[in-house]
Amino acid sequence: TPDKAPPVKGDVLVHAEESKEGQLIKVSELSDKLVRAWPMGKDKDGNNVIRKGEPNNILALYRFPKGQIVEPTKLDATVDGEIVAYSDICTHAGCSVSDSDQGDGMKCPCHSGQYDPKRGCKVIGGPPPRPLAQLPIKLEGDKLVVADFFASMPYPFLSEDEWEKFK
Ligand code: FES
Repeated sequence: TPDKAPPVKGDVLVHAEESKEGQLIKVSELSDKLVRAWPMGKDKDGNNVIRKGEPNNILALYRFPKGQIVEPTKLDATVDGEIVAYSDICTHAGCSVSDSDQGDGMKCPCHSGQYDPKRGCKVIGGPPPRPLAQLPIKLEGDKLVVADFFASMPYPFLSEDEWEKFK
């Protein structure tokens, strides 16, 4: 069903936080503090569908001052090198990752995995085997839109074969 589909090119990004769920995310609402988002697409009748039937679709969005986001982030998959989106699901065992209390990137509450969202969410501590997957995004008018599928394997439970099919 469309609510369980992974993010699809053309989906818009909407707030995941309960009080604003489903509202379009504005660029002005983004900062160096994590904002969680869902992709929202359409069903076959053209109605909006938030893709939250698949809990692994939760996304993490950041906006950093120009020049702070560097490789291996895929800069052409960011908005102006300032806004970046990742899967928010830890590649170790699937927990939702948050901002670190120490202000040094992102930290997973389950086994203290750490990621650097300015550097492609590469692993900077703990057991995760690979970075959080970057989701290519672009700005269309004032909407943040999914520009392509995840740039690497987003969910920890997929085998390489499943990932190939999933792409
Ligand atoms: Fe994130 Fe284990 S699930 S570090």
